[in-house]
Amino acid sequence: MKITFAKPALPEEGAVVVGVLEGRILTPSAAEIETRTFGALTRAMGVSRFEGKKEQSLVLLAPHGLPIARVVLVGLGKAEGLDRRTCEIFGGVAMGQLLAASDTHATVMVDDIADAPLTTADRAAHIACGARLRAWRFDKYCTKEKPEDKPVLKKVQIMIKDVAAARKVFDPLDKTVDAVFMTRTLGNEPANVIYPESFAAEAGKLTEFGLEVEILGEKQMRKLGLNALLAVGQGSARESQLVVLRWFGATDRTARPIALVGKGVTFDSGGISIKPSAGMEDMKYDMSGAGVVVGVLRTLAARKAKVNVVGVVGMVENMPSGTAQRPGDIVTSASGQTIEVLNTDAEGRLVLADALWYAQEHFQPALVIDLATLTGAIVVALGAYHAGLFATDDVLAERLTAAGETVGERLWRMPLADDYDKLIKSDTADMKNVGNREAGSITAAQFLKRFVGEGPWAHIDIAGVSWSTQDMPTVPKGASGFGVRLLERFIAEHYEEKGTES
Ligand code: BES
Ligand code: MN
Ligand code: ZN
Repeated sequence: MKITFAKPALPEEGAVVVGVLEGRILTPSAAEIETRTFGALTRAMGVSRFEGKKEQSLVLLAPHGLPIARVVLVGLGKAEGLDRRTCEIFGGVAMGQLLAASDTHATVMVDDIADAPLTTADRAAHIACGARLRAWRFDKYCTKEKPEDKPVLKKVQIMIKDVAAARKVFDPLDKTVDAVFMTRTLGNEPANVIYPESFAAEAGKLTEFGLEVEILGEKQMRKLGLNALLAVGQGSARESQLVVLRWFGATDRTARPIALVGKGVTFDSGGISIKPSAGMEDMKYDMSGAGVVVGVLRTLAARKAKVNVVGVVGMVENMPSGTAQRPGDIVTSASGQTIEVLNTDAEGRLVLADALWYAQEHFQPALVIDLATLTGAIVVALGAYHAGLFATDDVLAERLTAAGETVGERLWRMPLADDYDKLIKSDTADMKNVGNREAGSITAAQFLKRFVGEGPWAHIDIAGVSWSTQDMPTVPKGASGFGVRLLERFIAEHYEEKGTES
């Protein structure tokens, strides 16, 4: 499906999307349709609950007086509240209605609105971004889908006076959406398709964007002593991999990079501490942290961002077998610290322990951020609407939280404290890999903290937000890609040399 920008003109066919402000206030395009259809909009709104609030929509069929098939009213909320996220939601909600309809063509009218905080071109670009995010589908394996079940929408035109300005704002957003789609695809692919080596191969294709991609196999990792990571993968027939992605785009190529570290468990069966079978299929997206890291590096490279960023993802499959690690095993991590593995299902922290060490040892980063579908406990605490944020630095935490707010990927800060650290004290090794049932997400974060140095560090537990069980305005069902847009914003706003956004 193609999204393009064009000069305003009422279309002759298909569906037309127009905005309505809260209080049923018609935008200029809506008012024009209202006149031409002899008051159809007011009549329709009068017999519905549609008030023009954010996320609301109302579909009108073939109104008399216009040659088109459908008018879709979409709520804009209040004019003063028309920020980028509200525009994305507008685009996403519109797209949701368009995909359910039978039109192949649709037109979205974007009008000037007094009191709106963004320019009309900015709003048009963010509407296009939200629409694209919603339109994504993972249907490559649905070979027998009936035509009537498939969306038929082919072309969406966004009508805006200043086409060139809208395209300019949209270009980097478009690249980030491409990256989100890659991350979503990696999360949706089943574990027989995406396993450590095939994930590494997908990441390897990003050299096309100018990224440097280095792939370490088990032999190299053993030499480096990444025993905690290797222990997780030792029960699998698939070879574990460490994938290192480098984007050194800053004017000073020697400036310390930002390090992004991702958990890449391509399938988490739990290992010998095996999970119950109900819902185990979900554990194909236990590589979402790694997927996000790859997506962020991709979009930065695609727009040649002037910033130094390195991505390190630890790729393993956690399986039970005769070669799998056992509860009680003690492993020596690359940092030299020993870990008593009391539960082989607390594997993400073992992978991250060594990936974090590698990132710091090899790149002396200015700051470290890791992403991981780490704990079921964060799902209990925050559900699907916030990811858990743990940080050793308040400025870093605030910047990440604000970036998340901007793009609608919300974070909620959780505590780190020595009291929790005591819960992972082991009698026989430097630490154990699980605490008791209490504060499961925090003890996991405390575990990771033992593997980071003095510099600023943040850990984002994305277990609850990486998979969407229902269509949301800009996130269709399935792998969400949560984190790509957040980190892209975070980096663009605070670390990129200015004047780089094309
Ligand atoms: N991958 C899981 C966490 C998870 C749960 C991700 C739900 C996505 C959705 C992780 O490896 C895990 O199994 N964690 C255990 C830790 C426990 C054994 C201490 C958990 O949360 O139950
Ligand atoms: Mn697990
Ligand atoms: Zn896991």
